[in-house]
Amino acid sequence: MRGEGGRKANTKMAQGYNTRQHSLTTMKALVLVFFLITVLRRTICVGVAPESGVGVYIVLLKGDPVVQYNGSIQGFAATSDSNGRKLNASSKAVKSYVAYLVNSHDTVLERTLGRGNYQKLYSYHHVINGVAVQMTKRKADILGAMPDVLHIEKDFRFRTETTHTPDYLGLPTGGWTLEGGSSNAGEGIVIGLVDTGVDPKHPSFSDQTAKAYKRSASYTGQCEFTAEFPKGSCNNKLVGARHFAAAAVASGEFNSTVQYESPLDADGHGTHTAATAAGNYGVTVLVNGFNYGSASGMAPRAQIAQYKAIYRDIGGFFADVVAAIDQAVKDGVDVLSLSIGPASIPGGSAAYLSTFDLALLSAVKAGVFVTQAAGNAGPYPSTILSFSPWIVSVAAGTHDRTYPNSICLGSKSKTISGIGLARNFSIPRLSNHQRQATTSATGTNGSSFYRLVLARDAFRNLNTTPRTDGCQDSTLYDETVVKGSILICTYDLNFLFGVYNIPAVVITAQNLGAQGIVLTASSEVDGATFSPTPLGFPAIIIPNSKDSLVLLDYYNMTTERDQHGKVTKFDAVGSISGGEQATFSSSPPQVASFSSRGPDINSANFDVADVLKPNIMAPGNLIWAAWTSIGVDEQDFNGQNFAMISGTSMATPHIAGIAALIKQKFPHFSPAAIASAITTTATVVDSNGRPLLAQNPSTNVAADLGPASPFDFGAGFVNPTAALDPGLIFDADYDDYVQFLCSVPELSNLTVYKAINSNCGSNKGLPSDLNTPSIVIGSLNGHQYVQRKVTNVAATETYQSSFTAPTGVMIAVNPRSFTIQAGESAQICVALEATDSSNVTSFGNLVLSGNAGHRVRISIIISTRKQKVETDFQL
Ligand SMILES: *[C@@H]1O[C@H](CO)[C@@H](O)[C@H](O)[C@H]1NC(C)=O
Ligand SMILES: *[C@@H]1O[C@H](CO)[C@@H](O)[C@H](O)[C@H]1NC(C)=O
Ligand SMILES: *[C@@H]1O[C@H](CO)[C@@H](O)[C@H](O)[C@H]1NC(C)=O
Ligand SMILES: *[C@@H]1O[C@H](CO)[C@@H](O)[C@H](O)[C@H]1NC(C)=O
Ligand SMILES: *[C@@H]1O[C@H](CO)[C@@H](O)[C@H](O)[C@H]1NC(C)=O
Ligand SMILES: *[C@@H]1O[C@H](CO)[C@@H](O)[C@H](O)[C@H]1NC(C)=O
Repeated sequence: MRGEGGRKANTKMAQGYNTRQHSLTTMKALVLVFFLITVLRRTICVGVAPESGVGVYIVLLKGDPVVQYNGSIQGFAATSDSNGRKLNASSKAVKSYVAYLVNSHDTVLERTLGRGNYQKLYSYHHVINGVAVQMTKRKADILGAMPDVLHIEKDFRFRTETTHTPDYLGLPTGGWTLEGGSSNAGEGIVIGLVDTGVDPKHPSFSDQTAKAYKRSASYTGQCEFTAEFPKGSCNNKLVGARHFAAAAVASGEFNSTVQYESPLDADGHGTHTAATAAGNYGVTVLVNGFNYGSASGMAPRAQIAQYKAIYRDIGGFFADVVAAIDQAVKDGVDVLSLSIGPASIPGGSAAYLSTFDLALLSAVKAGVFVTQAAGNAGPYPSTILSFSPWIVSVAAGTHDRTYPNSICLGSKSKTISGIGLARNFSIPRLSNHQRQATTSATGTNGSSFYRLVLARDAFRNLNTTPRTDGCQDSTLYDETVVKGSILICTYDLNFLFGVYNIPAVVITAQNLGAQGIVLTASSEVDGATFSPTPLGFPAIIIPNSKDSLVLLDYYNMTTERDQHGKVTKFDAVGSISGGEQATFSSSPPQVASFSSRGPDINSANFDVADVLKPNIMAPGNLIWAAWTSIGVDEQDFNGQNFAMISGTSMATPHIAGIAALIKQKFPHFSPAAIASAITTTATVVDSNGRPLLAQNPSTNVAADLGPASPFDFGAGFVNPTAALDPGLIFDADYDDYVQFLCSVPELSNLTVYKAINSNCGSNKGLPSDLNTPSIVIGSLNGHQYVQRKVTNVAATETYQSSFTAPTGVMIAVNPRSFTIQAGESAQICVALEATDSSNVTSFGNLVLSGNAGHRVRISIIISTRKQKVETDFQL
């Protein structure tokens, strides 16, 4: 119970962190609260640990995992002969090699630690060769010193990347029909998710569709059935569902009545992300009995495989996450969608060789497209939580759906706009079609004005301390004063930290017979971002203290009081209106403040790494998708089957779904080719040609809004239609990534060898040589030539190159013009020359424009710098 409290508050911390902080006091308060929770949590964990010093360790062992194994051990045939092709996990060769690996794991452990002195939680064999073991620190040290052991690391926490938006009154939206809703989009592609599980009964995952689903021939995954996830839970839409909890159980925090030892989602997050990626087309969104339109996944005909490794209330553990990835790749998923990240930042070049990134590198080798949430630690620079060039890291953008509502004050019609209008109880349930016709039936009743009553003026006992102004307890207030009025309550830090919540305000207002609610913001929450939530009550939140003061001033001026301050006459009136209908302003997307920012950093010297992060932006703010009615992750949606939530977690499955569409159209595309198609076609300007904006751009965090840079949104905002016809692609395979690792200055040959069992060649090269659809040079000293190879995936076309040079850099591109046949490749050479050494990172781009209309754009990001630090960064 106490552990749970810890997480709850922790979650709130994350939420506070994700909101825009302009107020230093707020920030300090947040940091302090976080600190206290951390201390508290440590104390609790010590009490829970079964034996002091016992922990879970992930151990990498010598020898190739299945996706790398080339047959070099006598008696065991090669399991991998291909780069980027799926392996048949049920083949004889794979089965016998897996048995060999598992046996060798047990041999090493028994010999080194002695039977009974450890508990093996997992044998990893498909994407990495290693084990997860629960043992004492002393045993771990002994094991770590063995020659068979390449690397040993202590288990750490993983978590989902959802922003827990403050509880506040919200506003329902109109329909959410994403594009790609044809009856074929994503057909035959399997998207795997490592997440909190899935609600198998949700209509988003039903296979009872007009057109039947066929099992994918190359997916061999299974479903695991238990009492709460019974036989029949899987079908030809939800084709795989497993759970991985050994490390969570070992932590002592797992409770099977709460977290479930099955793929069942007790949280909501996994159901939401799966539906966003590939939920059925045209599923009706019903919340509080009201129809908000229909929802669809990005690839509505793709199939879903859920690998549950993150748990309600306690989050996840790395050892379980790796087991889930190992299984997903073995099962043959085409796309892996990871709306999860480490709870702390391992950082930079060392992170390329973390077990997590190595497992994903193997996944890519097996042809799996991997996309991961960038993280929600923005807006500050280098808060990115996803690092390696073989992973597509997704930033979150806002979209243009708003829900305007307002309160009109007095008969003179002073209007204040706000957010968070919920519908009036008296509106009948309407079909989507009917709803279009009745746009005005929201807010308080009709055009009538209602008396405004400030909560503190309605206390039964006038000596009550003003701290209780949050309207959490109706017994404190005088019903005769509030009845028939609009109740004004204060939204302050108590709400942000979850001490108070908005559903309680609604209950208070209902109990007292109020007609509506106004939540005014106190100055301490200025800068927080509020999202709408449907609550079934006429209400408005005024999201900043400045506008709130306008209302409070009006209230003060019109309210008469006696000499003790007791109100003798309430004379302020108001009327709440609007909100339920979504308005599409056609305003361009913005990078959300919470979205983690680049640059990727070399941890040894904190230079900008030669790798672009994040890679792409997708919608991640206020996303409607499936929810599980037993989910507890968002209390505003408790008991609902749909929820509207935010985070890079929500952006990531958009990219997973779009990747599935590309894979369907171009089955032979490597993961890098899919990433290239998505990024070179992204949008960086609005319809008027103005640059897209970022909330708190990483180049100037103090600004509310400013031009977005690649460190905010990578290549830009995803454009699925263009991504399905990219023209040229920048391809790369496993060997290219190995070469990349060998070229990272901070990684020695030996370090790379120990991590991936590959020798570096004699030519070290440069990280910027990797054939990515971007050019990033974190330290340009003098001049450098960068080669890129493009491959034409369309018909013969003639391209012209044009570029914008970053500040302080001269650029030449060769060739300026070229004709390229279908299926052929061309080399492009970019010469870069530093004209200053200011240490400032600046941004440019290279655009290849084809005469058949293709437009292929990559970013050029350069820091000119004088010196380079050469250190061997050991794992
Ligand atoms: C197979 O891998 C081993 C080591 O992993 C290497 O020494 C050997 O050269 C490889 N053989 C082939 C045919 O690639
Ligand atoms: C597990 O959770 C249930 C339901 O909250 C609770 O009743 C039970 O005591 C918990 N068990 C443990 C061992 O904490
Ligand atoms: C709404 O206002 C109308 C008059 O303007 C009144 O007849 C009706 O009873 C009111 N409805 C509610 C639910 O207060
Ligand atoms: C309104 O008046 C009360 C008492 O007269 C005072 O405490 C409060 O600060 C005033 N509020 C505003 C917004 O002027
Ligand atoms: C290892 O790295 C160095 C440069 O750091 C390079 O000169 C050498 O050739 C590399 N390869 C081998 C096999 O030693
Ligand atoms: C650039 O950075 C380096 C290393 O951080 C520093 O020594 C140098 O003075 C900086 N140059 C400028 C112009 O700021």
